Amino acid sequence: MPAGSENDCFELTGRVALITGSTRGIGAAIAEEFAEAGAEVIVTGRSSEDAHSVADKITQAGAVAHAIAYEAGAPGAAQTLIAAVSSRVSKLDILINNAAILRPHRVGKLSEEEFDEVFGINTRAALFLCQQAHALLVRSESAAIVNVTAACAHRPMAGLGAYCASKAAMINFTSTLAQEWAKDGIRVNALTPGSVATDMILPTDPIEREAFEKDMASQNLLGRLAEPREIARAVRFLSSSAASFMTGQTLIVDGGLLA
Ligand SMILES: NC(=O)c1ccc[n+]([C@@H]2O[C@H](COP(=O)([O-])OP(=O)(O)OC[C@H]3O[C@@H](n4cnc5c(N)ncnc54)[C@H](OP(=O)(O)O)[C@@H]3O)[C@@H](O)[C@H]2O)c1
Repeated sequence: MPAGSENDCFELTGRVALITGSTRGIGAAIAEEFAEAGAEVIVTGRSSEDAHSVADKITQAGAVAHAIAYEAGAPGAAQTLIAAVSSRVSKLDILINNAAILRPHRVGKLSEEEFDEVFGINTRAALFLCQQAHALLVRSESAAIVNVTAACAHRPMAGLGAYCASKAAMINFTSTLAQEWAKDGIRVNALTPGSVATDMILPTDPIEREAFEKDMASQNLLGRLAEPREIARAVRFLSSSAASFMTGQTLIVDGGLLA
């Protein structure tokens, strides 16, 4: 059994974690949760300033954090990011593919540009980042990838077709990568959040926001939206030795939305 089989199996001490889309929302919560669990974290987002702001907060709390600007849609983005990661850390144990965009549309009227944008960030970028990170992860004794998906990958929603399909594709790739890379000691899992209180879904107008939150909360069994940390803790579990016998799976953390 790999190291960490005692009470410390949820700890991430000594591990280096790269988290995409960690400037805010669920990604920032994952970076903070991992840092508190002892990991050295690499925070990424499109703006270097935003990435530094999250990394600085983590550093001020006594952990080690790096900030790297990353535009998932740029040509060669994965290669560029892994080169930047390699210049800052000597190893990589955990990759969290969390960055994503949500664009409302009707599939019947979806343009090729809209399709390419959503699949480009949510699926293409995540898949090629796994591929580029492989050479670093294969050297780790406890390598783990977690791909953050969405409940609509399991139950598609009108108005979000490309987003739902882009996340369903990542669940599919998660299984394939788990099968291909188990021999390399890399576990690959997916995590499906339900509705989480972040910029991605919450309207900025306070009145609209209240009505929206009420509607979303009524759709799951627990009657509320998740806080980003509730998702981050489950991502930590999948990334840690506590999940050492899990690979190729999708963990659903949705307050009972899909029950
Ligand atoms: N919130 C929910 O209810 C919910 C439900 C199910 C699944 N999810 C999934 O959970 C994950 C995190 O969602 P969230 O709610 O935390 O979203 P969010 O608040 O909108 O944050 C998205 C993150 O992704 C980054 N990002 C967006 N476009 C990018 C690009 N082109 N290149 C690089 N980074 C980019 C953002 O960085 P910038 O700061 O640079 O924009 C930000 O850090 C996503 O995979 C999402 O699909 C969310």
